[in-house]
Amino acid sequence: MRELEERILKDGRVLPGEVLKVDNFLNHQVDPDLMFSIGTAFAHAFRDAGVTKVLTVESSGIAPAVMAGLALHVPVVFARKHKSVTLIDDLYTAEVYSYTKKTSNHISIAKKFLGADDKVLLIDDFLANGQAVQGLFEICDQAKAEIAGVGIVIEKVFQTGHELVADRGVKLVSLAQITSFDGDRVHFASETTK
Ligand code: G4P
Ligand code: NA
Ligand code: NA
Repeated sequence: MRELEERILKDGRVLPGEVLKVDNFLNHQVDPDLMFSIGTAFAHAFRDAGVTKVLTVESSGIAPAVMAGLALHVPVVFARKHKSVTLIDDLYTAEVYSYTKKTSNHISIAKKFLGADDKVLLIDDFLANGQAVQGLFEICDQAKAEIAGVGIVIEKVFQTGHELVADRGVKLVSLAQITSFDGDRVHFASETTK
C-alpha cells in the first residue's frame, strides 16, 4: 500500500534491535484518515471471505481493526492482556510471549463474543515473530471459530511470523512488507517488484 509505505518513510524511525517506531500515526498518535484507508484495503482483500467478526489484541491493533470492521460492517473484538489469568470459565485465553519485551502475557476474550458460527479476520499492527497471531489462533480454536485470514499493517518479513501463518494455511495480507533495515533506512518488498 503506497500511502502507508510513504508514511513509514516520512515518519517512521528505526530503533536499535530492528524496531520501527511509528508512534506518530499508529502506535500512540493515530491518523484516522490513514487508518480508514487501511481498513478499506483489508476489507477489499477479504470481501469474499465471509467474515463475520474482526479480532485483534489491545492496544495497537484496535485502530486498524475497527476500520476493517467498519468497512466490512461486522463487529470487532479485541483480546485483553493480563499478567496472569487464573482459570475463568467464561473466557478463552492464550499465552503470548513477546520477544521484543521479553515478557509473557495472557490474552483473553469473553466466550460470548466468539463462537463456532464465526469466520474471523485477525488484524494486528505488526507481524514480527507472530506470537500475538499465534495466541489469536489458539483462541479461535478454543471457540471452534473458523479463520478467514490475517491482515497486518506492517510486516517485518525477515522475522518468522509469516511462516507461522503459512503453516496454518490461511491467507495473509500485509499492507507494508519491510524486507530490511539499513541503518535508518527502510526497504520494502515492493521495491524489488517495481
Ligand atoms: P509478535 O507478536 O509478532 O511475536 O511480535 P513481538 O513479540 O516481537 O512484539 C511484541 C510487541 O512489539 C507487539 O506489540 C508488536 O506489535 C510490537 N512490535 C514488534 N515489532 C515491532 C516494530 O518493529 N515496531 C513496533 N512499533 N512494534 C513492534 P504489543 O506488545 O502487543 O503492544 P501494543 O499492541 O500494546 O502496542
Ligand atoms: Na500489536
Ligand atoms: Na505494538
